[in-house]
This record gives sequence, structure tokens and C-alpha cells, in this order.
Amino acid sequence: MKVLVTGGAGFIGSHVADLLCAHGYAVSIIDNLSTGRVSNLPQEATFFHVDLTDFDEIRQVVEAVRPDYLIHLAAQVDVTTSLTNPLIDASTNILGSLNLFQVAYQVGVKRIVYASSAAVYGDPAALPLSEDVKIEPLSPYGISKYVPEHYLRIFASESGGHYTILRYANVYGPRQNASGEGGVVAIFSSRIAAGKPVTIFGNGEQTRDFIYVEDVAKANLAALHSNCDGVFNISTGVRISVNNLFDLFRQIAGDTARCEYAPPRPGEIMHSCLDPEKAKACLNWQAETDIFDGIAQTYKWFVNARV
Ligand SMILES: NC(=O)c1ccc[n+]([C@@H]2O[C@H](COP(=O)([O-])OP(=O)(O)OC[C@H]3O[C@@H](n4cnc5c(N)ncnc54)[C@H](O)[C@@H]3O)[C@@H](O)[C@H]2O)c1
Repeated sequence: MKVLVTGGAGFIGSHVADLLCAHGYAVSIIDNLSTGRVSNLPQEATFFHVDLTDFDEIRQVVEAVRPDYLIHLAAQVDVTTSLTNPLIDASTNILGSLNLFQVAYQVGVKRIVYASSAAVYGDPAALPLSEDVKIEPLSPYGISKYVPEHYLRIFASESGGHYTILRYANVYGPRQNASGEGGVVAIFSSRIAAGKPVTIFGNGEQTRDFIYVEDVAKANLAALHSNCDGVFNISTGVRISVNNLFDLFRQIAGDTARCEYAPPRPGEIMHSCLDPEKAKACLNWQAETDIFDGIAQTYKWFVNARV
């Protein structure tokens, strides 16, 4: 079985590609290496250095590979960039996705699995969020991750193909980028590994639903094996505060873990948590990694990688 993975040189995409290779799939990867790294690519995979917005070249690659499945993770992932340059954000995330989906179904792809985000939800009152709450994104990034969900549903129904939309909570793990807007776990890991204090904004009681990257990779594999089309939260359903997160780092790294408090960041969502029950029922998937073990693995990777 052939799987084309976009964004396969990136943080989550490289773990997905590793897992697919380990399960004997023939993996091809599209990535423009804007945030991804060649060192993340599995040796067994075929790599195409192509930008999603190069619509003709994307078409040529998809027609040449003729994959059975497409897993689409490549994206402009920086919320600040989406605010300062929404055209670039929309061009990659919306137009790039729609071009890719169209050509994929034209060459007979059986199922497309799309990496969407908790960012589509905005800041609704009741937690944990189920997939059917009102969608009200707070950033152009949230919009540009949401719009392709609709294209995918419509193209699938027109072509007779299948689709799975996975809305990820806060993903963490080895290979995550700690620069720019990297996730808090990557930033904490990187700074503590370098002997530097971490900054906690506000009182540290803001909470997030942290999910380990290998669990996310397994969710993508489960999506390929499932007959269910639709939208699924990929999350733990458990909220951890930033203070609790820092305590875990104290347990793992000892006194090397030091923190400073700074004023809250304007616009930051206080609490975020997604209900994973639908994915459990339909995809036969649930998060397995204990948060302590996941943080320990991540910290170890940062200590060794020194990034
Ligand atoms: N990390 C998270 O917590 C999180 C949460 C929700 C959703 N997601 C989604 O998961 C996916 C992967 O995110 P990630 O955290 O691994 O980020 P990442 O930056 O590590 O991976 C994105 C990959 O896409 C590639 N890319 C970017 N623009 C491209 C373009 N125009 N053409 C071709 N390749 C391009 C990058 O080089 C990179 O390898 C994204 O779609 C993101 O929206 C991530």
C-alpha cells in the first residue's frame, strides 16, 4: 500500500512517516523544508522537495506516485504569521490543500486524512469540546485550518472517496520545533536542557490537553484502517495546567528546572480540552502515553539533540 505524507519532514509528519514505514507501507513525502528537516525523513521514504503552492508540481508528484492514501500535514503553522500575513497563510493552508485534495481523488486515492486543529474551535465555554460545538476560530490560522475540512467533505462526496479529519489538541514530543511559536513542552525542554529558566505567563493556572506525538501518529494509522468518515478530536480529554507541567519537569530534571513568572499574554485562551470519545468509538483509538513518560522522553530527546 502506498501512502503520500505531506509535511513528512516536520515534527508530527515525521513520526507518522516512521510509523507507516514500520508497518510496511511504501511512503512518499512532500515537504518544502520551511520548518521541516531532512534529518527527520525516514531512510525508506521517497522524498519530493516541493511547495504546496506550486500547484502544477504537486499535481505531477501525485500523478507520478498514485498513492492509495494521502495524509496531509504540511501547513503554515505559525499563528502570528497568519495574523501578519493572512494571504500567505491562506495560500498554503487553503489553496494548497484544495489543489492537493482535488488531484488526489482524481488519481483514485481511497482515503485522505487531514491534520486539522483545536484552533478551529476558538474559545467556547463548556469543556471538553466535542466535534459538534459551534466553530468560531480566533485567528486566520484557525480559519485556514477549518476551510479545507469543507473542501475535503465535498470533494470526497463528489468523487466517491473517503476522508478523515483529525483535530489535534496540543501535540508534544521529540523533534518539535522549540523556536518561534513552538509548543510549551518543546520550549520548556529546550530551555531546561540548556540550563536556562523557563517563563510562565500569568499565574500558570491556564490548562491544555497535551497529547504525545506517537499517539497522534497511531491515530493516523487507525484512520487508514477505519471505515469511518468524519471529524475526530485527537486528544487525551485531560487538562494539565502550565504549573503542573513545570512540576513534571522538576521531577524529571531536578533543580535544573527553574521558572520565572511574567504578565499574562493578551488574547491567550485560558483553558483548552477536546473530548476524544468519538475517535475511541469510531477509530478504535485512544491516547496511551502517560504524561510523565511522554515529557521524560521529550526532555531526553532535547538533552541529546541540544536544539
Ligand atoms: N503541533 C501541534 O500541536 C498541532 C496541533 C494541531 C494541529 N497541528 C497540525 O499538524 C500539522 C503538522 O504540524 P507540526 O506541528 O508537525 O508542524 P511542523 O512545522 O513541524 O510541520 C509542518 C511541515 O510542513 C512543511 N511545510 C510548511 N509549509 C509548506 C509548504 N508550503 N509546502 C510544503 N511543505 C510545507 C514544513 O516544512 C514542515 O515539515 C499541521 O497541519 C498543523 O496545523 C499541529
